Parts: sequence; structure tokens; C-alpha cells
Amino acid sequence: MNEPILAVDNLTKAFPAGATPILNGLTFRQEPGQFVAVVGPSGCGKTTLLRCIASLMQPDTGSVLHRGRHFDNPPPWLSVVFQDYNRSLFPWLSVRRNVAFGLRGSGANDKRVDEALRAVNLEHAADLYPWQVSGGMQQRCALARSIVVSPNLLLLDEPFASVDAQTRIDLQDMVMEICQTMSLSALLVTHDIDEAVFMADKVVVLSTRPARVVEEIAIDLPRPRDQLATKETPEFLQLRHRVYTLVRKQAQKLSR
Ligand SMILES: Nc1ncnc2c1ncn2[C@@H]1O[C@H](COP(=O)(O)OP(=O)(O)OP(=O)(O)O)[C@@H](O)[C@H]1O
Ligand SMILES: [Mg+2]
Repeated sequence: MNEPILAVDNLTKAFPAGATPILNGLTFRQEPGQFVAVVGPSGCGKTTLLRCIASLMQPDTGSVLHRGRHFDNPPPWLSVVFQDYNRSLFPWLSVRRNVAFGLRGSGANDKRVDEALRAVNLEHAADLYPWQVSGGMQQRCALARSIVVSPNLLLLDEPFASVDAQTRIDLQDMVMEICQTMSLSALLVTHDIDEAVFMADKVVVLSTRPARVVEEIAIDLPRPRDQLATKETPEFLQLRHRVYTLVRKQAQKLSR
């Protein structure tokens, strides 16, 4: 069997070290090519988990292995898309140069930049600046910058949270298609249960703080998935119901 692309084992993190933990013994695996969605109550530590996975932060205990190896710094084949594109794009660089920035040192004329712009349908806006394009286009630019390096693992922290509903749907389809075409593994953190079930091969449900894995639910809906047809199947509705019930139980614990 293939080595998992990601193995999170018994991860614990507290701020400051020694205080009540935010993450408490988190364990799960991700197979190569798998799309995993992580859902959990607000503030439970999802971004902290992604930071530990990206090696942007070291856990207090436990380990994160990428294909069986530990990295002290973000491995070059791992890319992250953050929620807030306003802060992640450089306003003084054109869309094309923002994407080229992902290549560190290579020029904006690199053909990989054109390929990434094409993958997110932004060729026509390549010479505009982030503040001249819509929110959805800015997020597509951030996505292009993250895939330009041909990563193996894409970490997505609520990447569609700041855009309108229609744009969100378009971005979901685009990300799924890119992952499929590039055989890319993706780990998506989201508040949106429909989105998690629609996009993922597996949904990992986190508890309220301190976060641990409550349940992993396999989503064996066939691909390619369709926003209408897939979401109308009894299988989708059952899975959605199951995840929703688990998340609601956690949220109720939080409000007590
Ligand atoms: N560097 C840090 N120093 C101190 N506390 C931190 C740090 N990073 C996160 N925290 C705390 O850890 C907790 C979890 O934060 P985190 O951002 O991981 O949650 P989240 O699940 O991503 O939240 P949201 O759903 O709002 O995005 C919060 O209480 C936050 O204040
Ligand atoms: Mg967060």
C-alpha cells in the first residue's frame, strides 16, 4: 500500500505551552490523491491544525509526517490558500506577478505561470492588479499562486468564506477539477457542511475545544460531482445529515 501523504499522529498544541490545550491528541491520515475536509465548531483550532500541518508552527507533542517524513519547514510540494485573500495578495504586483511570486525567483514569463492562470481562468486579467478585480478573481489568483509550484498537497483554510454564494459554487467546482487534473491531494478546512460533503472523499469532524477527532466519515459519492445532480441524491442527503448531526452536537456543547 502507498504511504499516506499526510499522517497526523496524537497532535497536541497549547498557547502558551503547558496551558489548556487547543488541540488534544488529534490523529488522522490522508491517502495520496484523497480530498479531505475538516469541519468543526468555530474557534476549535482548525487554523492551528493547518499551521502545524504546514510546518509553520511546531506542535507541543505528537507528529506530522508527509509521506513518512518529518519537515521543520514547509516542504516545497505543499501549498496553502488562506481565507483572507486581501492579506495574502500583494497589491503592488499584477495578477501575473502575484502568481509568479509562488515560483520564488522565476520570472513572470515562466510558462508555468501561464498554465496556472489558464487553470483558474484568469489569463484575461493577468496584467490587472488585485484591487482591480473581484473578490472571486482575487481568490482564483491566490489559488493559481499555490498551484504554480505543482504541489502534491494543497491546504485550504476556508478559502471560499469571503465570496458570494454563486462564486463559492464556481470556486468549489474549479478546485475539484484542478485537484482531479493535477492528481492533487487537498485538505480543506470549512464551516460549510454541504461543501465538505460535496467536495471530499472523507470528512474529519473535530470536537469543540480542546479539539480531537470525533469521527471520520467516508464520502463515497461518485466523481465527477455535480452541484445539482449529486446534491439531490439520497446518498448525499444521508451523509450531509450525519455530518450535520455530529457538528451540531459539538456546537451545542460549546454553547452550554
Ligand atoms: N499564535 C497564537 N497564540 C495564542 N493563541 C492562539 C494562537 N493561534 C491561535 N490561538 C488561539 O487558539 C484558538 C484556536 O484558534 P484557531 O484560529 O486555530 O481556531 P479556528 O478553528 O481556526 O477558528 P475559526 O473557526 O474562527 O477560523 C483561539 O482561541 C485562538 O485565540
Ligand atoms: Mg480558522
